[in-house]
Amino acid sequence: MSPSDCRDGTLPSASPRRDGTLPSVSPHRDGTLPSAPAQVTTLHETAPGKLNLTLDVLGKRPDGYHELEMVMVSVSLHDSLTLELGTGEPWSVTCNRPDIPVGEDNLCWKAAKAYCDAAGIDPEGLRIRVEKQIPAQAGMAGGSSDAAAVLRALNRHYGRFSQEELRALGLTVGSDVPYCLFGGVALARGRGEELTRLPDLPGELNFVLAKPDFSVSTPALFREIDGAGVTGRPDTEAMVSAIRRKDRNAIGGLLQNAFEPLVAAQYPVVEELRQILLAHGAIGACLTGTGSVIFGLFCSKFRAFSAALELEEVCPEVHLATAVPAPNEP
Ligand code: C5P
Repeated sequence: MSPSDCRDGTLPSASPRRDGTLPSVSPHRDGTLPSAPAQVTTLHETAPGKLNLTLDVLGKRPDGYHELEMVMVSVSLHDSLTLELGTGEPWSVTCNRPDIPVGEDNLCWKAAKAYCDAAGIDPEGLRIRVEKQIPAQAGMAGGSSDAAAVLRALNRHYGRFSQEELRALGLTVGSDVPYCLFGGVALARGRGEELTRLPDLPGELNFVLAKPDFSVSTPALFREIDGAGVTGRPDTEAMVSAIRRKDRNAIGGLLQNAFEPLVAAQYPVVEELRQILLAHGAIGACLTGTGSVIFGLFCSKFRAFSAALELEEVCPEVHLATAVPAPNEP
C-alpha cells in the first residue's frame, strides 16, 4: 500500500501484531533510523474541453494581444488530473500522451507555481498526473483547462482565493484559463477574461468533434488575421439571443469563427469535414478556437453517431460530446 492509498490523505497506520505489540523499526546499516514517509494528499479533478460557438477578432491591442468576442461552451470530453501534494520529491508532471511537454513549460506546472507563489505556499513536493482525452492543438483549450483544474484543486484544498481572484491568477497562465475556471455557456470578451454567464444550451444537442491531421500555430494565425482582416464575422448578439430563446436551429445556423476562412483556405480538409457533418444532418458546423477541430451540432444522437462513423475514415481523432454545466464553486 502506498501512502496515497488513503483517500483522505492520511497515512495507513502500522498494524499491531497479534500479541498487541507494534513491529519494531530496524535502523539502517549506518545506525540511523529510516525517516518517516512523507504525508501525501491526493486530489482529483476533471478538466472539460471547450468549443467556440462563435469567435470574433475585434482588433489588435497595444499589449500585442487581440480584443476578442466569443461564445463558449464546456463539453463532456475531458481530461482527468490527479495531484499529489507533500511527496517530498521534486515537482513532476506526467501525461499519458508522449507528445505533450511535461516540464516547467507545461501549463499545469505554471498554474501550480502561480498558485503557490501567490499564496506563499510550499506543498513540499507535487506530482501531477494528466490523463488526456481532449485532442491537443485542437482549439479546445485542453492545456488551459488542465491548468484551470490544477488551480481549482489547489484552491479547494488551500482555499486562499475567491473565484474572481482565481480567474485573475489564471489569466497570468493563459488567456483561456479564466473561462476554463468559469465553465459552462459564457460570452467572453477582452483577452477572453471578461466573462458573462449565459443560460445552458437547450437539451438534446450533440456535438461531433473531428480532429484532422494538422495543427495550427495560434500566434501565427493571429498575425495572419492582422494582415488579411476578418472576412467572416459572426453575429454574436444574434447567437446570445438564440441561446436565451433556446432556439436550437438558430444556434446551429449562427455558428461562425473568424479564423475559419483562413484555416480552410490553407487546409481543404476543413470544408470536406464540414460537408460530411452537414450531409449527416448537422444543424451547423464550425472550427473551434484556432483549430484544428471542426465540430458539428446535431439534434439527433443517431445522426451524430452516423456522422462520427464516416468521419473516422478520414480523421485520426473523432469524438462525441454533449454540453456540460459550469462547475458549482462557492
Ligand atoms: O494567452 P495565451 O498564452 O494563451 O495566448 C497565446 C497566443 O495567442 C498569444 O501569444 C497571442 O499570440 C495570441 N492571443 C492573442 N489575443 C488573445 C489571446 C491570445 O493575440 N486575446
